[in-house]
Amino acid sequence: MPSSRTVLGQDGPVTSVPQDPSPVTTRPLDDSAALGALAERLAREAGALVRDGRPRRVDVASTKTSPIDVVTAMDLASEALLRRVLAEERPDDAILGEEEGHVAGTSGITWVLDPIDGTVNYLYGIPAYAVSVAAVTGPPAPEEWTVQAACVHAVADGRTWTAVRGGGAFLDGERLAVNPPAPLAESLVGTGFGYTVERRRAQARVVAEVLPRVRDIRRIGSAAMDLCTLAGGGLDAYFERGLAPWDLAAASLVAEEAGAVVTGLRGAPASTRMTVAGPAETVAGLVALLEELDADTDRP
Ligand code: IPD
Repeated sequence: MPSSRTVLGQDGPVTSVPQDPSPVTTRPLDDSAALGALAERLAREAGALVRDGRPRRVDVASTKTSPIDVVTAMDLASEALLRRVLAEERPDDAILGEEEGHVAGTSGITWVLDPIDGTVNYLYGIPAYAVSVAAVTGPPAPEEWTVQAACVHAVADGRTWTAVRGGGAFLDGERLAVNPPAPLAESLVGTGFGYTVERRRAQARVVAEVLPRVRDIRRIGSAAMDLCTLAGGGLDAYFERGLAPWDLAAASLVAEEAGAVVTGLRGAPASTRMTVAGPAETVAGLVALLEELDADTDRP
């Protein structure tokens, strides 16, 4: 099977050229509902593995961008399960997963997988971690792709968010809508932090300026759950610099289908550089503040 590796650069994933550059065949887009059903099945199956296989004490298997950016054996096992089912069910599709990178396909569809979003919560037994599965078309990068179908499955309590492009967003079958827009001063804002010292110094500077201007800040520890929580009105807005494609893919569609704008700064789309989400008017205010703060840079 042709393959290429994806590694994370400072501002996003850098995908090496596939070893077999065979042209992608264009065939009519699969039924998004079928992609959505498979996304949900995958997320639930991997979620059952993560839930049932959690030892009392979880060990760190390895680290990635820094000593605190951890991988557990379950991150690897969950992604292996997802890849195994996809190889059986959708052998022509590409896959981009957090732990094993990119494998090219020929169908025009890429599955974007986060086997455990919120790995640090999983490590400590804090019940906010999720399996995130999305089917996207277009290049496998948030600036360019179109997310067609998505599922985020919260492992600890079983909450399951689903969305199909144009079909609305749902939590356990119940339709979701973001909160009405609110002034920033009355907005509960979610955010998250990266794993490198340089990134965190810059994020601390930005949070110090945002915190006095909003109702409060929440740091749930799973970007996918942040965006899904926003979709159901549990947050008024969300921003984060440094999201990887797998953090963003599924949950961005859930948020958008619930009525959120999901964007970057300075007219750019949401990406690793910056993601801001919420109702349009709230996002406008937050984007203006974040642009003023150069929040899409690592300036300390
Ligand atoms: C992390 C979580 C966290 C966010 C980080 C992500 P991981 O994903 O989504 O909330 O702040 O930016 O890297 O490492 O648990 O898969």
